[in-house]
Amino acid sequence: MDATLQTVRIAVKTMLKDDDERYTHTLGAANTAKRLAEQHGIDPKKAEIAGLCHDICKCMSQETMYRWASKGFDEDTIQSYTPGAMHALAGRVYCEKKLAIEDIDVLHAIQYHVYGRPSMSTLEKIIYVSDYIEPSRTFVSDDIRALAFENLDEAVYASSHGIINHLKRTGKPVNHLGLKTLNAFRPSKRRK
Ligand SMILES: [Fe+2]
Ligand SMILES: [Fe+2]
Repeated sequence: MDATLQTVRIAVKTMLKDDDERYTHTLGAANTAKRLAEQHGIDPKKAEIAGLCHDICKCMSQETMYRWASKGFDEDTIQSYTPGAMHALAGRVYCEKKLAIEDIDVLHAIQYHVYGRPSMSTLEKIIYVSDYIEPSRTFVSDDIRALAFENLDEAVYASSHGIINHLKRTGKPVNHLGLKTLNAFRPSKRRK
C-alpha cells in the first residue's frame, strides 16, 4: 500500500476538523469497513484507508470541491453528480494527487461510494455499505448490519434501497447512477 495509514489518519482529522459528526461517521465507516474486509477476505488495511478517505472532501466549499473534481474528471462526469455527491469525485482526485494514494481499488471505492455502480469490486461494495451502516447511522436496522457480514451483495441492495427511499421521503432527487446500482443488485438480476 502506498500512503500509510498514519498519514491518512492525520490528513482526514485535519480535513474534517470543523465537523465532529462527519469525523465520527468517518471513523465508524473505516472501522466497519475494516471488519467487513476481514470477514470477506480482503486486505483490512486497504479497507480502513478507503473508509477513512471516503468523505475527506465533504467539508470543502462547493467551489473547492469542484476545483478538485475538475483536476481529474471531465465536465460531463462532474455534471452527472449532484452537488451533494461531488465530494466523492473531489475525494478521489484529492487522495490521488495530494495523499499520493495509487491503489486504483481504493480510489474507485472513494469515487463510487455515493452512487455505487453495477460492477463494484469487493472493496467498493464494503465502502458503499459501511458508509450506510456504520454505528452513527441511527436510522439503519441491525438486520442490515448483520446482513453485511453474511452476504455483501444483498447488503448492497438493502443499502441502495434504503438510500433511495430516504431520498424520496425527504423530497431529494434520485440520481440515475444510484438507480443503476439498485437495479443491478436486485435479487432477480444478481448472479450468484
Ligand atoms: Fe460521502
Ligand atoms: Fe460517508
